[in-house]
Amino acid sequence: MRYRNIRHAGMVLALALAYALAAVPAVAAPAVTAPVVTAPAVTAGERLAATCTGCHSGQATALPPLAGQPQAVLLASLAAFKSGSRPATIMTQLAKGYTDEQLAQIAAWFAAQPGARQ
Ligand code: HEC
Repeated sequence: MRYRNIRHAGMVLALALAYALAAVPAVAAPAVTAPVVTAPAVTAGERLAATCTGCHSGQATALPPLAGQPQAVLLASLAAFKSGSRPATIMTQLAKGYTDEQLAQIAAWFAAQPGARQ
């Protein structure tokens, strides 16, 4: 059979190829033997603290670094900001945005980080 229409011939070839590929039996995926590596879990404290590190990185800012401060000290500061008993420019508003549990998680995370002055 001769094809005069080259586009038609191309379509026939493409269809034949598609059918041929569809006829190839599916190859079973090899069993996964490599150990599954999971990324370290991001704790709630770390996630929440991400908001704070922009201002409290300890670098190029006059603000005290939070990393490595004792958890109780951080928590006392945050509670005082939240209640308004410790006057502040921005921290009073910020601290009010978190539950006490979230502040505890944040304080725990910062306390567990290596301090800038250590
Ligand atoms: C927009 C910048 C900014 C962000 C974001 C910010 N802070 Fe602050 N922080 C300040 C400033 C400014 C002070 C000094 C007190 C004031 O004027 O509010 C301060 C003071 C503090 C202090 C007292 C530090 C000390 O040793 O006396 C703590 C604790 C603190 N912030 C915790 C946090 C935590 C936790 C977060 C995140 C939830 C946070 N801050 C986010 C600006 C910021």
